[in-house]
Order: sequence, then structure tokens, then C-alpha cells
Amino acid sequence: MIKTIQTKPYTDQKMGTAGLRKKSKVVMQEHYIENFVQSIFNVIGDLKGKTYVLGGDGRFYNDIAIQKIIKMAAANGVSKLIIGQNGFLSTPASSNIILKNKLDGGFVLSASHNPGGENGDFGIKYANQSGGQCPSSTSDKIYQQTLTISEFKIDDAPDIDLSKLGTQTLGAMQIEVIDPVKDYVEMMERIFDFSALKKLFSNGFTMRFDAMNAVTGPYAQRIFEDILGAAKGSVVNAVPLPDFGGLHPDPNLIYAQELVDLMFSEKAPDFGAANDGDGDRNMILGKKFFVTPSDSLAILTDYFDLIPAYKNGIFGVAKSAATSTAVSRVAEAHNIGYYEVPTGWKYFVNLMDSNRITFCGEESFGTGSSHIREKDGIWAVLFWLSIIAATGKSVEEITRDHWKKYGRSYYMRFDFEGIDTNVADKLMADLENKLPSLNNQQFGTYQVKEAAPFVYHDPVDGSDTKNGLIVKFTDGSRIVYRLSGTGSSGATLRIYLEKYDTTKLNENPLAMLQNLLEIALNIAEVKSRTGKQHADVIT
Ligand code: G1P
Ligand code: ZN
Repeated sequence: MIKTIQTKPYTDQKMGTAGLRKKSKVVMQEHYIENFVQSIFNVIGDLKGKTYVLGGDGRFYNDIAIQKIIKMAAANGVSKLIIGQNGFLSTPASSNIILKNKLDGGFVLSASHNPGGENGDFGIKYANQSGGQCPSSTSDKIYQQTLTISEFKIDDAPDIDLSKLGTQTLGAMQIEVIDPVKDYVEMMERIFDFSALKKLFSNGFTMRFDAMNAVTGPYAQRIFEDILGAAKGSVVNAVPLPDFGGLHPDPNLIYAQELVDLMFSEKAPDFGAANDGDGDRNMILGKKFFVTPSDSLAILTDYFDLIPAYKNGIFGVAKSAATSTAVSRVAEAHNIGYYEVPTGWKYFVNLMDSNRITFCGEESFGTGSSHIREKDGIWAVLFWLSIIAATGKSVEEITRDHWKKYGRSYYMRFDFEGIDTNVADKLMADLENKLPSLNNQQFGTYQVKEAAPFVYHDPVDGSDTKNGLIVKFTDGSRIVYRLSGTGSSGATLRIYLEKYDTTKLNENPLAMLQNLLEIALNIAEVKSRTGKQHADVIT
């Protein structure tokens, strides 16, 4: 039976960099999910004939939220839902399902790399028919709806059994439960040369993939162990757990500690990688060697013609403004298009749809291509393995060769977390006002060339987006300041530093960037305004 239930708006349902992200306890408030989902349905309008994909990373509350969405979809007239078995689907797999089946969009229940559990975070990403997250123009409309919503529709049915594959119905709506891994694996087989990768492993190549107790475990086991022949046990933390076993499922040097410790020990395998909660982020490691995501994007782009799906050429490449400029030199060398967009994968979607780019990436451990409209952790791992198989070189050799060829962008990110929101907003506002006065100023050996907010004009839809403040120096060094849009409480200030060098290729990044860091902290008065003497997280 379809019920219409009265509700009161929440004022905090604005989507950030990637969907709605909140503390689990916030989402567990009465009608919180219902308000948000009904607001999306209201903005879409007529749902008759529409099909959506639905799934998540299995985190705490995934099971409850998914049932609510199913019953609301049925009550609102959605024709069909395609759902991952037991509610599981990685973000890249969902995007693939939308594109492959030409669906109208989908819902990914995940707060990505944020910790899960009752005291962790929950989130919802809404994708449209592009296969990517909806643009800001749509999320703004959804937010407006959430501020005025007064009722939602829901089917008063018992919970749907999501453990059985196949089709069932709820009222007039069809529900198809699918194997969450199968289509994704088929897509990877079409992109990469699996026989070359099998040979790599049969010749004794060793790897460790850390799924961080999150959604990629089953994908990684099927691909790396079952199909490609990596030794059993190469994939660790492979069972998705509601609280990720207490891990912070963010694949970086700090949170993927178990993997990092192994890779920097004498027992290190040839290759190490980790993915985040919903499978779109990746970290790449060699023996005692870390590849920055910015370098990774540049290296993958440089080797595009080794991969069957790209060997006939790629359109171009894009990066977020905060990401290092390493890939720009590769784009120039290959004479392909090059774009800089605001932070957030949704800004790449129009560029992919219009065949302006094939590859894209962000410094925050995201790399991907136009095979889908989200970043893709396992794709990046398979790409690296393919380069290793084709060149016979190690991760370290591949990266060092890259620096020899193109020079090296020393690059690091410094995060100041848990800042009072008002303090953070004022810091950014005051800094923005100060930028014009910085032009041509000298700071030690650095001279400011240009200091301005980053403004992106989307060449496809004509929209303008302002995100972050950039100080560029005459030697090509850069400081980027921005506030995180994925946190669930307080503010996080991110400071990104970059210094390019063509001769000093083997220095310690922190030592290379130390002076720039002091300049960055001084310009924005970070210590006095936040009371913090050091960054909380450095990547
Ligand atoms: C962070 C990253 C950004 C990424 C997003 C979603 O957003 O910085 O590159 O797209 O997570 O994975 P932020 O918290 O900086 O807004
Ligand atoms: Zn993610």
C-alpha cells in the first residue's frame, strides 16, 4: 500500500564535493533519508518508465537506507531498480551499469573514504543518465526541495530480499538483483590485455591489494586472484564490513598503514595497491616506493598506447586545479587536449561526454577514464600492472624514468582538520581579499606571478564554478588553498604545494617544499587563526 507521510524539512541536506555526507547518527534521524530521496524524486519529476541502479559500499545503515529507497521508488512510480546483490555495488560498477544499460541514473550509498559505523559517516551520491554525479545545477535544485519538503511517498511493504539474484516486483515496479562484480569484470577484460597480465603473474610477479574491509574485496579477489592468477591471499581485508573493521578506508600513506608497512619492509612484494570504501580511489606502491596520485595520472597518460582500449589514441586529459601540473607536460608532449577543473569528479563528466578527454585524475588518489563517469580504483591498478608487464620495469623504475623525461613536480597536501566553520570561512574570505596585493611580491626566493581565485568556465554547459584560491610563482611553483566539501562536521582547510624541478630528481619532497609551506602558512595566517602549529594529515 502506498502511503503519503507528512514530514518537516532538515536544513542541512546540501550536497558537497561528492553527494550528501553526514554522520551516521544524523542520517538516522526520523525521515532524514526519506526527505532527501523524495527531494531528488521531486526534482526529477515524472518517474514513469525510469530505471535506476542502486547499491552501496556495505557500510553501516546501507541495509536500512536501501530498503527505504526501494519502497519510495515504488511509491513514486519508478519502473525498475537494478540492485547489487545484498545491496553491494562499488561506485565504478554502478556507473558502468548506468552506461551499459542506458539507465536514467542511480544511487550509491557511500561516504566514500570516510570511516563507517554508527559513529562514522554515511552518504548518498545521486548519478544521472551520464553515469556520473549530477551537476551543481541539479544538486542546487534538490537542496531547495529539501528546504520546503512537507511529505514523501513510501510503499508500506515488507523488506525486499536482496540475497537472491533475479527479478521480483514491488507493486508495479520491477526489481532486478544482479551480481555486483560480473559486468565490471567484463568491462575490465575489454579494456586491458588480460593474457599479458596472466603471464606477468605466472612468471612469479607478486602483489598485495588492500581492500580495507570495504567494497572492492570481492572485485579484487575475482580479478587478481581468480582470473589473473595472483597468489591466493594477495588481496587482503577482502570482506566488506559495516564499520570497515575500524579502518579509515582511505588509501593513503597514513590510513593504509598495514599495506605501507609491508611495502616499506624487506618482505615487500613487487607491487602494492589499496582502494577506498566505495572503490573509486587508489594508491599505488612499489617496493619501498610511493607514487603520488598526480604522478600516477601523468604516467598512465604517457603510456596510453600500451592499453588495447586506448592504443588508437586518446582525446585529452584533465586534472583538478589542486592536482600537480605533472600531467600537463605529458599532454603537451603527446599534443592532446588538457583541462583544469574544480575539485570533484562531476566536473570531468561534460569533458568526457563531449570527447574532449579520455583520462582524468585528482591528487586525492583518484584516476580514471571515460570507460565510466567516476574514478576507478581497480582500473588504475590494472593499468599500472599492464605498464609493468609491457616494460618489464618496476614501479620505481617507471616513475624515475618519467621524472628523467619530464622533470619532477614535488607535491604534497597539508590538511588542517576540525577547524571551526566560521574561522575557516573567514580565513578564506580574508585571503581572497588579500590576493591582489600579493602580485609581484617576493617571499624569500619565490616571487608571486599571479594570485587569484580558481574560476572554471565549463566549455560544454557554459557554467562557471569558483573553487579554491591559487598563488602562482614565477618559477612555476604553486600554492592552492581550499576548504574540503566532503567532511561531515567542522571545516578542513587543504593546502596543496607544488614545486617543479628538472635537475634535482631525488630529493625528499618535504625538504623541497619546506620554504613554500612556511610561505603558505604565513600568507593565510593559518597558525594564528586556527591555533594549529602543524597539519593534521599530510599526504
Ligand atoms: C575530496 C577530494 C576530491 C574528491 C572528493 C571525493 O574532496 O579532495 O578530490 O573528488 O574528496 O572523493 P574535498 O574533501 O577536498 O572536497
Ligand atoms: Zn570513494
